[in-house]
Amino acid sequence: MNIKEISRNLLKKKSLDDLIATSKKSELKKTLNVFDLIVIGIGAVVGTGIFTIIGTAITGGVESAGAGPAIIISMILAAIACVFTALCYSEIAAMIPVAGSAYTYTYATMGEFMAWMVGWILMLEYAIGNITVASAWTGYFVQFLKGFKQYLPDFVVNFPIWLRADYKTMEAVCLNNHWDIHDKIPYLFGHIPVAINLPAVAIVLALTLLLIKGVKESTRVASIMVGVNLFMILSFVIVGAFYVKPENWTPFFPSDPSGIIMGAFLIFFAYIGFDAISTTAEETENPQRDLPVAILGTLIICTILYVSVALVLTGIVPIDKIDVTAPIAHAMSFVGKDWFAGLISVGALCALTTVLLVYQLGTTRILYAISRDRFLPRSWRAIHKKFKTPYVMTWISGVVVIVCGLFMDLNISAALCNFGTFTSFVIICVAVLILRKTEPDRNRPFKVPFCPWFPLAGITICALLIIYSMKTLKTSSSYFIIWLAVGLLIYALYGYKQKRLGDKKNS
Ligand code: ALA
Repeated sequence: MNIKEISRNLLKKKSLDDLIATSKKSELKKTLNVFDLIVIGIGAVVGTGIFTIIGTAITGGVESAGAGPAIIISMILAAIACVFTALCYSEIAAMIPVAGSAYTYTYATMGEFMAWMVGWILMLEYAIGNITVASAWTGYFVQFLKGFKQYLPDFVVNFPIWLRADYKTMEAVCLNNHWDIHDKIPYLFGHIPVAINLPAVAIVLALTLLLIKGVKESTRVASIMVGVNLFMILSFVIVGAFYVKPENWTPFFPSDPSGIIMGAFLIFFAYIGFDAISTTAEETENPQRDLPVAILGTLIICTILYVSVALVLTGIVPIDKIDVTAPIAHAMSFVGKDWFAGLISVGALCALTTVLLVYQLGTTRILYAISRDRFLPRSWRAIHKKFKTPYVMTWISGVVVIVCGLFMDLNISAALCNFGTFTSFVIICVAVLILRKTEPDRNRPFKVPFCPWFPLAGITICALLIIYSMKTLKTSSSYFIIWLAVGLLIYALYGYKQKRLGDKKNS
C-alpha cells in the first residue's frame, strides 16, 4: 500500500446522506422528547461544578486568585463561551441526528483519522470525567450518612475508611491526619494494600444495570433525581435569600482582576455536559426541532440557577469563611440550619448521580458509533434482545470507570476531562465552518447566527482555555499527550486495518 492510498484512506469522509440513512435504520428505540432531553442536559450539567467547585472559584486556590462576589461575572463569561459552541452543536445535531456526537460530525467533515482521534478524545470527557464524579459521589455519600447518624447503626455511619477511597487518596488522608497507613488499611498476604472506593463502585454498578434495562427507564429515574436536585437548589436560593447581608457583596470586585478570569476558567466545569444531549440524537423523536431547543434551554436554565446560587452564597457567607469542600451545605450551617445542610447533601448526591448516569449513557453511545465503523470490535455493539440497548458497550464503560476509579487520582482525571471537552468544542466549531462550505444547500433546521463570527469566537475562546490550562497543569497535559499517542497506536495497529477489511466485505 502506498503513501497516497494511506492518506486517501485517512481523509476518507462519510457522506451526510449515508449517515442520515444509517440513523433511519437504527435499532435504537426513538423514545426521547424535548422534556427528556432537557432532563438529560440538566442532569449532565448541574453537579460537581455548582455544588463544590464554586467555592474555590470564589475564594481562590493554591495557584489562582478568587473572583469573590464577581463570580457571577465569571459565570456569565463561562456561559458565553459555551453558547457559541452550543449554537454550533445545535446546527450540526439537527442537521445530522446520528449517535456519536463530535465523532460523527468529524467523520463527515474531516475524515476517518480525525474522527477516530476525536472519538478517543471524547472518552476523556465522558469516561474519565465520570471517574472524577464517581469518586466525588463517595464524599457526599459519607457526609449524607453523617447527617443521619442518629437514625443509622454505627457500622453504617463509620464504615472502614479503606472501603471509601483509593490507595493514593488514603495515603494523603493518613498524611494529613498523622496516621500510620499500616494501622488504617489491611494488607493482602502482608504486602498488597487493600483500599477501594466501595460506594463509587456500587453506584456505577447500579447505574450500569439501569442503563442496560433501557434509556427511557434511565431518564425516568434521572428526571426524579433532577427534580430533587433542582428543588434543593431553589430552596437554597429562596431560604438563603432571607439571610443575605448586602454588605457581604462589598467589595464586589476582587483586588486581583485575574480572579474573574480564573473563576470563569474553573466554573466552566459546571457547564460541561450540555453536549451530552446531542449524543442521543438517534433516540430522539423529533431531533430537528428538539435538539436545538433542549441544548440552548439547558444552558439558559443553568446560567440563571448558577447566578442565583452565587448571589445568595456570597450574600450569606463572607468570602474568607466560604467552605471549599461543601460550600452550599456549609452556608446553611453558617446560619444555624444544620438540618437544611443535610438536605442539601441529598440534593448534591442526586446531582452527582444524574451526572454519572448521563455520562455513562454518552460513553456507550459514542463507543457504539465508533464500533459501528469497525475501529473497535463490532461484537461490542451487540444489542440486548429484550431491552434493545447496547449492553456490551454499557458493561465495558461501566467496568472501565470502576477499575480506573480504584486507582486514578481525582485531580488528574478532572483536568484530563477538561482537555477533552475543550478540544471537542473546538472541533465542533470547525466542523460547522467546513460544512457551510462543503454542504451549502443542505437543509439546516437550525443555523448558527452571524456565521463565521460565532464559530470563530467559540474556537478562539476554547483554544485559549486549552493553551492556558496546558501551560499551568504540567502533569495532566503530559498525560493528555500520552492519551493521544495511545489513541494513535490503537488506530495504526487495529482500527485502520479493520476498517479496510470491513470496506472490502461491503464492496
Ligand atoms: N458539569 C458537570 C458537573 O459540574 C460535569 O459535575
